[in-house]
Amino acid sequence: MPAHDLASIAKAMVAPGKGILAADESTGTIEKRFNDISVENVEENRRAYRDMLFTAKGLGDYISGVILYDETIRQKSADGTSFVELLGRNGILPGIKVDTGAKPLPFCPGETITEGLDGLPKRCAEYFKLGARFAKWRAVITIGKDIPSATCVEENAHALARYAAICQEAGIVPIVEPEVLMDGDHTIERCEQVTEWTLNALYDALYVNRVVLEHSILKPSMVISGKGCKQQAGVDEVAERTVKILKRTVPGAVAGVVFLSGGQSDEVATAHLHAMNHKFKGNLPWPLSFSYGRALQAPALKAWKGSTSNVAAGQAAIIHRSRMNSLASLARYSAEEEKQAKAA
Ligand code: 13P
Repeated sequence: MPAHDLASIAKAMVAPGKGILAADESTGTIEKRFNDISVENVEENRRAYRDMLFTAKGLGDYISGVILYDETIRQKSADGTSFVELLGRNGILPGIKVDTGAKPLPFCPGETITEGLDGLPKRCAEYFKLGARFAKWRAVITIGKDIPSATCVEENAHALARYAAICQEAGIVPIVEPEVLMDGDHTIERCEQVTEWTLNALYDALYVNRVVLEHSILKPSMVISGKGCKQQAGVDEVAERTVKILKRTVPGAVAGVVFLSGGQSDEVATAHLHAMNHKFKGNLPWPLSFSYGRALQAPALKAWKGSTSNVAAGQAAIIHRSRMNSLASLARYSAEEEKQAKAA
């Protein structure tokens, strides 16, 4: 693995044309994905699924790092090689989800606080020994009637900052992920307002907690219309509003920005990323790339369906989506290429 210090690891995570594969679904979340393809949620199936993804030939051409779950970072490929070693051989950095989930926030109905700070220094030390070089913590901000509350925004920013400082002390690059959910019927203007508030609170808290921004990565949601909003903003508007808010709130010292997909369809998530890089080419203080979960994996999951005879099809699907997003991060994606690749 070439990168050792935090600055080089952060830089490698957002190297030109590369993004991050979020494969850190908890056992509960992967069950939802497996239910869609009628695969039983047992350890061997979870291992086989991740094995299919990680052994896809050429994955390292587009993917700089993979976020793993506690169970996955300890698992092995079919030939006995640990996943960590396998990824390393392909030039991919192993990362780890360290939060323990979003739990109800007291006195704030409908809102959550992400937990996992207790014992985190010890867990980070263990994950570092296991090979993790970066980590992820997801905070959830819900838009609804009278929410988010200041309590939710501030307390989640605080937890993200405490997590980030702990990671950096342990030699791990923190991905800070404040997700403003797209669930709801709110307008894109409302999403913009809440995203600006959330990011301002986050960078205040990171400053107070002495987090080194150059050694951190931001994983934001895009500024987008609520799923149930009648008026759905188009690709250009999403790109413009998202970059506007990022520029207002995210210091240029931050090593990179990698988006979550948050329930956007795979091709729409790619189109949004491309539009941002295309419109603002040469005018962005940080690399803008991807750290998608569903938008990278959905077609691969569907092609695989839990069967060894479909491994090649699943791998072709994950490579295709990774390549399309790599092109989008370089402002070189085209819908035409997408179509051609599909036909081939
Ligand atoms: P999605 O891209 O499916 O939102 O997942 C990204 C992620 O890591 C959520 O924490």
